[in-house]
Amino acid sequence: MPTDKKWLFTLILTALLSLTLLLSTFSTTPSTPSPANLRRDLNYPPAFAYYISGSSGDSERLFRLLLSVYHPRNRYLLHIGTDGSDEERRKLGSLVNSVSVIRTFRNVDLVGKPDKTTYMGSSSMAAVLRGGSILLKVDKGWDWFVHLTALDYPLVTQDDLSHVFSSVRRDLNFIDHTSDLGWKEGQRVLPIVVDPGLYLGRRGQIFHATEKRKMPDAFKVFTGSPWVTLSRSFLEYCVLGWDNLPRTLLMFSSNIVLSQEVYFHSVICNSPEFSNTTVNNDLRYMVWDNPPKMEPVFLNISDYKQMVQSGAAFARQFAKDEAVLDMIDEKILKREGNRVTPGAWCTGRRSWFTDPCLQWGDVNSLKPGKHAKKFKESMSNLLYDWKTQSNQCIL
Ligand SMILES: *[C@@H]1O[C@H](CO)[C@@H](O)[C@H](O)[C@H]1NC(C)=O
Ligand SMILES: *[C@@H]1O[C@H](CO)[C@@H](O)[C@H](O)[C@H]1NC(C)=O
Repeated sequence: MPTDKKWLFTLILTALLSLTLLLSTFSTTPSTPSPANLRRDLNYPPAFAYYISGSSGDSERLFRLLLSVYHPRNRYLLHIGTDGSDEERRKLGSLVNSVSVIRTFRNVDLVGKPDKTTYMGSSSMAAVLRGGSILLKVDKGWDWFVHLTALDYPLVTQDDLSHVFSSVRRDLNFIDHTSDLGWKEGQRVLPIVVDPGLYLGRRGQIFHATEKRKMPDAFKVFTGSPWVTLSRSFLEYCVLGWDNLPRTLLMFSSNIVLSQEVYFHSVICNSPEFSNTTVNNDLRYMVWDNPPKMEPVFLNISDYKQMVQSGAAFARQFAKDEAVLDMIDEKILKREGNRVTPGAWCTGRRSWFTDPCLQWGDVNSLKPGKHAKKFKESMSNLLYDWKTQSNQCIL
């Protein structure tokens, strides 16, 4: 190479090098590792699949609830029932899309073709099973299925939840249940009801047949809280139905009042391979009137202390924008405005004008806060009860 060419070569090389350096400085700030860094197996903390349903007018509440339970390792499916409009669904979709971490991890979906959810009818049960089926299909990496509605709110962060569930066998199911039906036998199980939501286009209410049925003797009916946390393997068993029991019970449940309080409970307790994976609790904080009404009371600031002391993971029910939700955001979740609940994965600077979760690092690490302690205690008690078999399906 002649000397003048050599000189030109060096110049170009230097220019290229500094350009590369400059570009790499730009691309490392902000740091936002991609979903390829997700690690989800038994060596890593568990992940959750949330089915979050609401009805007409719930898009903002659903968005707030999503932000409060969001974590890049989890999976989410949002559903606004047929009583809501496509306009509301679009609005919710654009709210979800405004969150940069969700755009990157693409772990939130919205049901585009919604289901009917008749109050007290079995179409609601069908919608939950469909939600579970979609979550099983779109994501192979989660461990537990959690059903929330727009009226719920978390009492722990996702770092807390995943940390506490790290010490739980991943085949365990949290289903509050009893075989002591009491008044429910005569009022919920024996009456035969029909849910027009299963076959009529327009909205309707369940209606009662004049005949009543006999109590079944092919299986035992269990009932309990509709708010369940299911292991992946048990949900697969219900959805895929290689044994006929889940299907038989589904058909039986279709004519029952509030089948959501009967279906999973009866399937699990009548299945020998799953009944001993049932922890008898729904992980929820609820307060009931005396005598109890159909729904628990609306919680407010007066309930805050007891709610936090309860060691539950979620609470219901709340009115929209209830002040106690702001209190939970501030004191427990450390969440502000339209931002997700921060976790160990958020590495950005935190101030009132910057969202720490616009930058992230290792999404597989957790940093439980002080509220994880109560939840951990109550989980240890539940697991103790489960091990000592004092609280299981009594056939
Ligand atoms: C649950 O029961 C099944 C079958 O009855 C048994 O194989 C399994 O080991 C039991 N699991 C536990 C945790 O007891
Ligand atoms: C909270 O609700 C209860 C009824 O459930 C009511 O008695 C109480 O006054 C309410 N407290 C506040 C601060 O609104």
